[in-house]
Amino acid sequence: MTDSPITFDPAVIWERVEALAQFGKYGDTGVARPVYSPEWQAAQNEITRWAESLGLEVRSDAVGNVWAKLPGSEGGKSIASGSHIDSQLPGGRFDGVLGVISAITALGALKERYGTPKRTLEAVSLCEEESSRFPTTEFWGSRAITGRIKPGDTENVISYGGEPIGEVMRSIGLDPSKTDDAIRNDIGAWVELHIEQGPLLEADGLPLGVVTAITGLRHYTVKVTGNSNHAGAFPMDLRRDPMAAAAEMISNVVGRAAEWGRPAVTTVGRIHVEPNFPAIVPETVEFMIDARHPDPEARLRLYAEHEAALREIAARRNVEIEIENIKGHEPYICDPKLVETFDRAAQRVGAPYRQLTSGAVHDAQRMGAIAPAVMLFVRSKDGRSHTPAEYSSPEDIAIGVATLTEGLRALAYE
Ligand code: HGY
Ligand code: MN
Ligand code: MN
Repeated sequence: MTDSPITFDPAVIWERVEALAQFGKYGDTGVARPVYSPEWQAAQNEITRWAESLGLEVRSDAVGNVWAKLPGSEGGKSIASGSHIDSQLPGGRFDGVLGVISAITALGALKERYGTPKRTLEAVSLCEEESSRFPTTEFWGSRAITGRIKPGDTENVISYGGEPIGEVMRSIGLDPSKTDDAIRNDIGAWVELHIEQGPLLEADGLPLGVVTAITGLRHYTVKVTGNSNHAGAFPMDLRRDPMAAAAEMISNVVGRAAEWGRPAVTTVGRIHVEPNFPAIVPETVEFMIDARHPDPEARLRLYAEHEAALREIAARRNVEIEIENIKGHEPYICDPKLVETFDRAAQRVGAPYRQLTSGAVHDAQRMGAIAPAVMLFVRSKDGRSHTPAEYSSPEDIAIGVATLTEGLRALAYE
């Protein structure tokens, strides 16, 4: 099969991006589409209608993932491609949903040009990845598919608004006791197209990336307790000030990642002070650390050095410290054979590209637990994401879809 690769009209794909961006539209270019919300349901229904119109076999699973299948003649494991349909609140109109649009577009185009594949192809719109409604879902859609939802999780995964996810599932007609029905043991490969969400492709003037590794992540809460006191009458040398300690801790951990240099990152984006008034030395300061590194060994060393420093500063400043590890994702080394397949696909499509690692976490590192996985990245303007300002050009997106399609062709038809 030496046909030239299928190409795509950027304007047609752009129409699909804009159509889905209407569900949970936020301002001119943003979306706010939390899992299981009415706008989320409307988006999944639109995806169902569109995939059915392409002649794909469409079904929704026990947690609301929407699957669109192009059955293969030889049976066996499916080659799956997709991403998540939920968004940050607010987020951009590309994060996640672009992978869903690309996968369905690819299957429709392959069906039209080559008919039935040897191996089954499936596109999937995963119900949730962002933790934007429920902080501890940890990729609810792919968590269900890979069998990582344990009994009781549907009661103890609670939304920021205090709703158990099981209750919300029931409210839209899903049965939380049936999440195991979403488990798949017949996925032979996972390919996820996503926006880069960083500045590397743009810095190199490239539209496309083939991802070789996905970073590991750990979220901690750090609670520092001292003595609240009068801000004026209580001498500095007698204080047990948790704010001064937290300030040193935050600059220490962020400074360490900066010193280590790329691809280590550490962010403190959330802090809470009690009682939080200017004339009171605080009682407690609680903040969250997001620490990431793609290398399995270096990651653990970064966490260990952070934790040792936090405890040393607490002891020296005579304040108490409680460190809680609230969630983590292992880094994932993408399957080298799939990386090669998509290197070749990019070359056949004539797409200028580079290999790179992902600083964001993705469903692919969960799916990598049950099948070899790889990702494709499309350039992000100004490297921005998790903001309505998120933008990728129709031309870059068309290059991404063509590369995804060519790689899926090689995997399913050759
Ligand atoms: O935080 C992340 O990396 C993902 O985009 N939610
Ligand atoms: Mn995403
Ligand atoms: Mn995201």
